[in-house]
Amino acid sequence: MPSAQRKVVVLGTGGTIAGTSQSALDNTGYRAGQVAVHGLIDAVPALAAVPLEAEQVAQIDSKDMGVAVWQALARRIDAHLQRADVAGIVVTHGTDTLEETAYFMQRVLAPAKPVVLTAAMRPATSLQADGPQNLLDAVTVAVHPQARGVVAVLAGTVHSGADLRKLHTYRLDAFTSGDAGALARIEEGRLRVFRPWPEGDALGLAWIDRDLSQWPRVEIVINHAGSDGAIVDALLAIGIDGLVIAGTGNGTVSEGLMAAARRALAAGVKVIRASRCAIGAVVGGAEAGRDEFESAGSLSPVQARIELLLRGPQSAPVQARGIKPRSDRP
Ligand code: SIN
Repeated sequence: MPSAQRKVVVLGTGGTIAGTSQSALDNTGYRAGQVAVHGLIDAVPALAAVPLEAEQVAQIDSKDMGVAVWQALARRIDAHLQRADVAGIVVTHGTDTLEETAYFMQRVLAPAKPVVLTAAMRPATSLQADGPQNLLDAVTVAVHPQARGVVAVLAGTVHSGADLRKLHTYRLDAFTSGDAGALARIEEGRLRVFRPWPEGDALGLAWIDRDLSQWPRVEIVINHAGSDGAIVDALLAIGIDGLVIAGTGNGTVSEGLMAAARRALAAGVKVIRASRCAIGAVVGGAEAGRDEFESAGSLSPVQARIELLLRGPQSAPVQARGIKPRSDRP
């Protein structure tokens, strides 16, 4: 089928892009996830020229995102991607956990077709609403012949889903690709591509096909000045399967927290050491034989948490980026 005739499927999950407030000047006191995905599309007249389908998968504030919605979303993305008449998928989402959903979807699906996540920093009712342009740009990317894999489109920039970080609480250009740099910019509806787009091995849908009760409990603990590790002991008391330590600087951990992390390891908890820095990798950690804890490498703490979630009850080392599926998994 000629690519011009192939459809884009827009899957709505909520977020500020679908948020409304009482006043067009109120950019903080709004409710996320109010406008249906069809309403978001109708607000962009230029989208009438593109063959689109839309489906509401969820309608939530993404701070409440979790495994159940990720499972449902992954299944719907996968079903639509298998259709010959679909060029790509756009997912509308909240910005707050966009990087987690992007990473989860890339690890599970690593699709050959584009899956383009988009969001907005201002509600749909705002004088400064950025959702309509972001949605239009996302659709532009979803039909682009070079596009592939899970990416995110915000403020005219295309980020790889694996590199995405939310860096700013408020400004419209709130995201970064960190050291890796952006994949492309969208300028007047055209893409200026900077580097190769994501490829990788998909874990596959079967990997996540388990009951919610069978997902491990994985928590993140941040190292801070004066951290004594008591929080880890409290977590051990309630029972956890995995622990990500967001260390200071290059993943350093205070003596007290280190001792508690060792107790966690001894109790059978999987422990990964990441960094609380917004950008950069943990350099020279476990992979260099210098550490008893697994290093997150270039994964952020929330990405490392997803790795531990995806591992399920059995353990295997994280390899930052290019993580290969193991043949002994479902
Ligand atoms: C959300 O993440 O759902 C709310 C915040 C946002 O989208 O910017």
